[in-house]
Formats: sequence, C-alpha cells, structure tokens
Amino acid sequence: MNLEDYITAHSDVEPDYLAKLNRVTHLRTINPRMLSGHFQGRVLAMFCHMIQPKVVLELGTFTGYSALSMAEGMPEEGILHTIDCDDELEDFLNDTFANSEHGHKIKLHIGDALTEIGKLNETLDLVFIDADKREYLAYYEAVLPKVRKGGFILTDNTLWDEKVLKPVDPKDKDTVAIMQFNDFIAADNRIEKVLLPIRDGLTLIRKK
Ligand SMILES: C[S@@+](CC[C@H](N)C(=O)[O-])C[C@H]1O[C@@H](n2cnc3c(N)ncnc32)[C@H](O)[C@@H]1O
Repeated sequence: MNLEDYITAHSDVEPDYLAKLNRVTHLRTINPRMLSGHFQGRVLAMFCHMIQPKVVLELGTFTGYSALSMAEGMPEEGILHTIDCDDELEDFLNDTFANSEHGHKIKLHIGDALTEIGKLNETLDLVFIDADKREYLAYYEAVLPKVRKGGFILTDNTLWDEKVLKPVDPKDKDTVAIMQFNDFIAADNRIEKVLLPIRDGLTLIRKK
C-alpha cells in the first residue's frame, strides 16, 4: 500500500453519488485527471463543514465533483456559484446537479472566469480557484476584493506535479505561472497563507 492509498483508506469513504460521478467522468471525458477525486473531495467537504460558508465561488467546474463536495458541507441556505468556459459541459452539469441531494445549492455560470467574476455582485466567504493555471494571479486579484475579511481562498494544483521544485523551461507557461503565483502569495501581506501538500498542492489563504 502506498501513502496515498493509506491516507484514503483512513479517511471517509467516497459517497456513492460522487463515486458514480468519478466513474462517469472517466468514461466520458478525455482528461479525467482534472477531477478533484475521493481524498480531495473529502477535504473540500470538511473545509465547508468547518467554515460553514454561505456564499462560495468556484472557478473551474469540470464535471461538478468539487462543487458537489463543497455543497455537501455548506449550510442549507448556502449558494455556490461555479464558473466554467466549456459550454459542452452545461447540459451534463445541469442534470448532475438536478439529480443530486446538494445540487440545489449550486448555480452554474458558463463563460470565461474573469468575465463572470466581474458580473458577480456577492460578498464571498470562500473561493476555490481551479480553472486556467496561467490566470491564477488574475483570478486572485479579481476575487480578493469580493472576499469578506476573514474569508478564505483555496487554490488547487499549487505544487503542479512537483514541477515547481525544478528548474523551469520558460516555454512551460503553466509551470511559470504557478511559480509566479506561489511567490506572489508567499510575499502578500494582505493575507495569511499555508501551502498544504494535499494531492497536487492546495494553498489555503485567509484574508486579513
Ligand atoms: C481542473 S478542471 C476543474 C476540476 C474541478 N474543479 C474538480 O475538482 O472536479 C479545470 C476547468 O477549468 C475550466 N476552465 C479553463 N479555463 C477557463 C476559463 N478561462 N474560464 C472558465 N473556466 C475555465 C476548464 O474548462 C475545466 O473544466
């Protein structure tokens, strides 16, 4: 048994509806690795149980796994806005959310993340950033003014397959962007931050 299997085996089991979504994502999409998956899904649900956010924003819906995991931990009156630019996901996502116990808390926005953030007139308790890696800094600056004092931002993939540890090819724009994001966040005094070695790196940020 490797470390990842051990951690998963000693955390909550994946709820049936998410295990099904995991299987369908592997059957129907060409890049199923993008999905948060069992362990990170449980982490997101746990954070939402802890924070009890009333308004959540997610950037990067994909097949809805992380949105549903977070919705599970949110209070009944909570609302989770989730944005994805891939309009081919729209019908699948609307069906998936309509047929899920916690889907009524989720509002899907199809469009470019930065454009849709600009239209959102909400004070945010929690943001989950998981869309275009090259836009992470722009997402961060766009959402920070909308996050309430004491609110949280979670940013996924900040270890980027450990490529952040090695000399980077300047042509590898995703890795360059993640490294710039990590350096910027580490030096930003407007926030508290911890980079958690969860799955592919999950940075937890708290607005001061
Ligand atoms: C890593 S996947 C999200 C995975 C999902 N959060 C989960 O954990 O299951 C990234 C998603 O971001 C979307 N995306 C990429 N660029 C985007 C943009 N500029 N605006 C909105 N969505 C974008 C992609 O279509 C893709 O579905």
